[in-house]
Amino acid sequence: MIKSSRKPAAFFYFRTMRHFLPNGAELIIRQPTTADATGLLDNFQRMTQETDFLLFTYAESLELSQRTEEDYIKTYLGNSDQLMLLAVVEDKVVGSITINHSGYHKKGHTAEMGIAVEHAWSGLGIGRRLMTAMLRWAEQHKKIQLLYLQVFATNDRAMHLYRNFGFQECGRLPNGIELRDGQYVDLVTMYRQV
Ligand SMILES: CC(C)(COP(=O)(O)OP(=O)(O)OC[C@H]1O[C@@H](n2cnc3c(N)ncnc32)[C@H](O)[C@@H]1OP(=O)(O)O)[C@@H](O)C(=O)NCCC(=O)NCCS
Repeated sequence: MIKSSRKPAAFFYFRTMRHFLPNGAELIIRQPTTADATGLLDNFQRMTQETDFLLFTYAESLELSQRTEEDYIKTYLGNSDQLMLLAVVEDKVVGSITINHSGYHKKGHTAEMGIAVEHAWSGLGIGRRLMTAMLRWAEQHKKIQLLYLQVFATNDRAMHLYRNFGFQECGRLPNGIELRDGQYVDLVTMYRQV
């Protein structure tokens, strides 16, 4: 059941977070600026090359540019219903998490999240830190009551992470995704209340 009462209005700034990873490197979780466009693009192109679990293909990611990334970042900076957080290690963007709001009034209480961390930096708890930071923001947001996401059914690591944070499966589109090798996998929807 969705909470019937609205959350009290609150204006929430995201405060930069710093953590030490098990390998000793410092992780910074912060909101982006347009100066991160190149770093974000490089990170995204590396990830579309190394994983088949993202919706974009590597070829599609090569169509992006510094300009498109700047515009993309601005859609988050100029909208208090949306969130982008970067995971930065050694001055390099190694991952990110986003919350997207449809803009429709009737879906105003819902938002979709997405997350990705580079393979070289995965398994160090960065995904967990990004999820924690994102949920802290969502919990303070005056409208968001329901978060949802879509994940490929074979993405065990991501589904494990989401379940750890209380997300549960609520449906799947059979064979909703065609992988690089031509195999089809189900597209799973997961959600949790905020
Ligand atoms: C999924 C992803 C975001 C996880 O980020 P991460 O920084 O590696 O996550 P963490 O280090 O915080 O650990 C995630 C959890 O998965 C677990 N895990 C690791 N490998 C796993 C596997 N093969 N199967 C199941 N669980 C696994 C870890 O043990 C950890 O759980 P725990 O805290 O209970 O021990 C990251 O691997 C990623 O971006 N992958 C490629 C893109 C992607 O899949 N994005 C999500 C699209 S929906």
